[in-house]
Amino acid sequence: MTTRYITTPIYYLNGEPHLGHVYTTVAADVLARYWRLAGARVKFLTGTDEHGQKVAQAAEAAGETPQAYADKMVTLFQEMTCKINASYDVFLRTTEERHHLAAKALWKKLEEAGQIYQSTYAGWYAVRDEAYYEESEIVEGRAPTGAPVEWMEEASYFFRLSAWEKPLLDYYEAHPQALAPIGRRNEVLSFIKGGLRDLSISRTKFDWGVAVPGDASHVMYVWIDALTNYITALGYPNVGGEEFQAFWPESLHLLGKDILRFHAVYWPAFLMAAGLPPPKRIFSHGWWTHEGEKMSKSLGNVVDPFKLIDTYGLDPLRYFLMREVPFGQDGNFSEDVLIQRINSDLANDLGNLAQRVLSFTYKNGGAKIPEPGELLREDRELLAKAAHLQETLHNDMETQALQAYCRHIWGVVGDANRYVDAQKPWSLKKSSDPKDLARMGTVLYVLMDVIRHVAIYTQPLMPDASAKILDQLGQDARTFEALKTPLKVGTPLNEPSPVFPRIA
Ligand code: MSP
Repeated sequence: MTTRYITTPIYYLNGEPHLGHVYTTVAADVLARYWRLAGARVKFLTGTDEHGQKVAQAAEAAGETPQAYADKMVTLFQEMTCKINASYDVFLRTTEERHHLAAKALWKKLEEAGQIYQSTYAGWYAVRDEAYYEESEIVEGRAPTGAPVEWMEEASYFFRLSAWEKPLLDYYEAHPQALAPIGRRNEVLSFIKGGLRDLSISRTKFDWGVAVPGDASHVMYVWIDALTNYITALGYPNVGGEEFQAFWPESLHLLGKDILRFHAVYWPAFLMAAGLPPPKRIFSHGWWTHEGEKMSKSLGNVVDPFKLIDTYGLDPLRYFLMREVPFGQDGNFSEDVLIQRINSDLANDLGNLAQRVLSFTYKNGGAKIPEPGELLREDRELLAKAAHLQETLHNDMETQALQAYCRHIWGVVGDANRYVDAQKPWSLKKSSDPKDLARMGTVLYVLMDVIRHVAIYTQPLMPDASAKILDQLGQDARTFEALKTPLKVGTPLNEPSPVFPRIA
């Protein structure tokens, strides 16, 4: 059986969930739902990154212990995950015991392999990014990300990252699909070619983290702990276990461009050093700005996804996020564009198609799927376009081309709307010629079969709205497999009602 392992980053708990978090989780959910409908065995992992200085400082500012703070904040992320209808299989917290065990096991493996040594770290650190920076990267006392940096000097364990330059380059050369999109792949390759320095992987100045095995005066650097989450969820260190064996070879990590280096350089190096294969594929998406500006708390322009959901509905927002920007590129969020998109693609194109065909048939066609007569060329053409979606959409999902997935479906929606306009089933109804009435049945049958295809394929994007359309069409079989069976004549329709209201 085909398997798929789809992961989101685990989110820091130092603030409330925002559009950036929603974006990655929705994208992962769309993929997970698609592959389940395609018959794959899917594991969809998400969770929270609860250790490190950033969370510890936020807890201190809130006057709470890090654990109490994490226990409070995690509920916001769990609520977000539910509110956006993410069909996750595992929600992992790095404070869980199984995760501590996994992170320690990985550390020990690296130690046994001679990949860890003790020394002193002296350099710049940005708590906001939980990242080390080179002297040459610091501009006016700040990291290239704009984060404030502090000078750090302490005893630290190091990972021999420098030894992994060549193995990483060889790996990426032999696995061109391991890193996407292509621009990001090139970025990572040139970063590695620029030379890798050994990485400081422990801290002594605070204790909110996973204790270093055998040396309780150190906690692990939050990124080594955090990255391990992807294998904790598969039962690591039990690499011979069924879960690990079934899912790790099919792993896909989704993450934003800001954390690409951690995933595409450190993580594969840790894994290779521990004798494990790197993730199958890493896909790094872009960033959303708001009305052209970077979203930030200090600018007060952070988009609140919950308000958007309350105003416009969840499924329209999910569709917009996937449709508006090619997955991998940056995008600009504006409420006007969201409204335009909802009105044009959802209310006008898909909503109208479903509504006019279904309510006409409900009232004038006996409220059931009509019997088709002989198919004409234009009928066959439209049906062929709908049938061809299977292959096109499969390729889109294999490459995480989520925007293309939407565009391809809406291509068929557009064809179907043009077909309705050309075939005019309502005029056929007015004719007294029985041939016209038979033709009306054929036209409606063709349209309903196309709507069935479309609604089955929109399920990953808009689970509830698609379910409503399929309910109205009287369809219980909703997997991609179901499309192999012809639409059944005589199936009763349920009373139609508009699925996508227009936004005034
Ligand atoms: N805890 C780390 C990830 C560890 S994974 C082993 C982390 N957390 S985060 O909460 O800061 O960010 C999580 C994700 O949100 C990242 O993929 C990041 O790119 C994404 N986004 C944060 N702001 C964003 C936008 N404005 N737009 C799109 N995504 C953005 O990093």
